[in-house]
Amino acid sequence: MDNSKDRAEIIFSSSVEEDFAKVIADFPGDQIFLATDSVVEELWVCNNTLFGRFPRIVIPAGEENKNLSSAAMIWEFLTARGAGRKSLLINVGGGMLTDLAGFAASTFKRGIGFVNIPTTLLSQVDASVGGKTGINFRGLKNEIGTFREPLAVLIHTPFLKTLDRMNLLSGFAEMIKHGLIFSPAHLTELHRFDPDVADYDELREFIRHSVEVKNHFVTRDPLEADIRKALNFGHTAGHAIESLALETGHPVLHGYAVAWGMVAELFLSSETCGFPAGEARRMGNWIRQLYGPVPMNHDHSEKLLALMMHDKKNEAGLINFTLLSATGKFEINRHCSRDQVLASLESLYDL
Ligand SMILES: NC(=O)c1ccc[n+]([C@@H]2O[C@H](COP(=O)([O-])OP(=O)(O)OC[C@H]3O[C@@H](n4cnc5c(N)ncnc54)[C@H](O)[C@@H]3O)[C@@H](O)[C@H]2O)c1
Ligand SMILES: [Zn+2]
Repeated sequence: MDNSKDRAEIIFSSSVEEDFAKVIADFPGDQIFLATDSVVEELWVCNNTLFGRFPRIVIPAGEENKNLSSAAMIWEFLTARGAGRKSLLINVGGGMLTDLAGFAASTFKRGIGFVNIPTTLLSQVDASVGGKTGINFRGLKNEIGTFREPLAVLIHTPFLKTLDRMNLLSGFAEMIKHGLIFSPAHLTELHRFDPDVADYDELREFIRHSVEVKNHFVTRDPLEADIRKALNFGHTAGHAIESLALETGHPVLHGYAVAWGMVAELFLSSETCGFPAGEARRMGNWIRQLYGPVPMNHDHSEKLLALMMHDKKNEAGLINFTLLSATGKFEINRHCSRDQVLASLESLYDL
């Protein structure tokens, strides 16, 4: 098997052992290595006879470890075990781990093959698919990274049974986003999801539809030149909320910030792109019901605006938004006035 592909094979797996065996069939056993994080190691890896067969590196769990020294640990581990250009790295974990180990693999000896086995909802519907890898650097998220497709992504929903409610909801926000930007039918089915009594068979079908949406964009625009920007819906305001929450010592999960960001950007969508105001309100109420109120108020607006002004996706000093004219219809590269952005934040606090 070649160690790089244009597009990863995405496998919805009911038996991770069987599918994993198929994926690794072309690789000699002495060239397969595994990376995971400390939480997933305890829950899913250390007692698994198949995973347990390969030399592995365990990175301490947590976003703060998605950094250069963890990447160096993976490079050192691979070097010490004589990994070569034909070696394969299996990444088992959430988005922190698949981003980090994907980055380490994509740079080791100019790139070795890797397989993602995502274990959080966020990584199954978003992070493990689409070929972006990366680490945080000098306080900046995903500042260093590569575009490199995994050889395969193995999605197995029973992993989610050990995931806490907040992390489940965090990933669910990206699914809502996929519905909003591209698929009214997906958005409708998501209303059936209850995070307190998750039906994992049903969830697997929802995940499949969500991954189809993400794939639609990444196959057409792998390097984010244009339409892949649709996936940034909710993220301009969302990243500002996420950064401010972190700065003030009360971090929020990424998906929560995106959920609140979508509320603000739905307001902007109805102000500037004709998105139906009633629908924006209904979405806002649903998001409030799932994610609670945004932990911010009027006093934070200037700071949030300043953070949005510094978003790395801006061009020519204008805040760049992806907005919607209707459910399933997005418009990229939209700009809004300062007053419109401030009003959208007020609408979010008032939710
Ligand atoms: N590459 C991309 O396109 C892309 C897209 C979106 C997000 N991301 C990145 O993904 C990361 C966030 O991903 P995440 O939310 O999965 O975070 P994460 O990997 O930190 O996982 C969250 C927590 O859940 C634990 N965990 C993982 N699997 C578990 C399981 N099955 N049961 C119980 N606990 C489990 C982890 O150990 C961690 O403590 C961020 O670094 C973000 O930048 C990347
Ligand atoms: Zn996101």
